[in-house]
Amino acid sequence: MKRALVVGGSGKLGQVICRTLHAADARVSFTYFKGEKVAKALQSELGCDALRLDLRDLASVGPALSEQAARLGGVDCLIHAATIGSTLEPPVFDRLEDASVEGFEALMAINVGSAFFACQALAPSLSKAGGNIVLLGSVDGIKPVPSPPPYAVSKAALKGLALSLCKALGPSGVCVNVVAPGVLESGASHTLPDDLRAEYLKHCGLKRLGKLEEAANLVAWMGLHNTYITGQTLMVDGGL
Ligand SMILES: NC(=O)c1ccc[n+]([C@@H]2O[C@H](COP(=O)([O-])OP(=O)(O)OC[C@H]3O[C@@H](n4cnc5c(N)ncnc54)[C@H](OP(=O)(O)O)[C@@H]3O)[C@@H](O)[C@H]2O)c1
Repeated sequence: MKRALVVGGSGKLGQVICRTLHAADARVSFTYFKGEKVAKALQSELGCDALRLDLRDLASVGPALSEQAARLGGVDCLIHAATIGSTLEPPVFDRLEDASVEGFEALMAINVGSAFFACQALAPSLSKAGGNIVLLGSVDGIKPVPSPPPYAVSKAALKGLALSLCKALGPSGVCVNVVAPGVLESGASHTLPDDLRAEYLKHCGLKRLGKLEEAANLVAWMGLHNTYITGQTLMVDGGL
């Protein structure tokens, strides 16, 4: 049985990823932060371990995930699906001039720093398994689209992480990839203004938003079955 650790399993997409992995007979463990109610429900539905972790506290990420991985009995698959989309509270589609230093630091810690230190902490276990790392990016970090600049920067950084780690961990058989959705029906894209949603639909080949399942299916497949794709960014954007 494959063992999957999902960072950000309480998110809209994270929940579907956890369910998809579970349905594929993986043993799942996930992290959450503010979504206690969602997390407890998912935990009892899947009968799995869940850990409350504030990813802004980067010093705690590695040790906490290492302990969680040990409870899981090791890790074949690390999925990073945690994110914030805005430097402001309440979250908005922030413009260049809106970003605060404090908010930028928090966003980079959650979106990039926690992914980096998760990979660092779990690399030994993943190397034993010859496993997979799947990082959730976004079209915002890959293509020139209207986007909140801090979020776009953070998503582009994940591509750099995958490019570097596919070489560093490749000799141990670990594959490292980014799955980059366009705009999905719910979740992180909720701050997208209506006019930009309409613009997305205009340019999207399939003329519709993506379903959470459509992204989760690829993420779960990459996490459980991939053996020779590495260092790649796979778009799930309906042909933007
Ligand atoms: N949905 C989309 O349209 C879309 C499009 C492109 C890319 N993506 C990417 O897909 C991934 C999943 O997105 P989603 O739609 O599931 O987003 P979401 O519903 O907003 O979920 C965000 C996740 O991040 C966690 N998180 C936020 N702040 C945290 C903190 N300080 N400490 C720990 N965890 C924290 C949340 O935990 P709590 O809720 O428990 O606080 C939740 O699990 C993200 O990387 C996102 O960028 C999504």
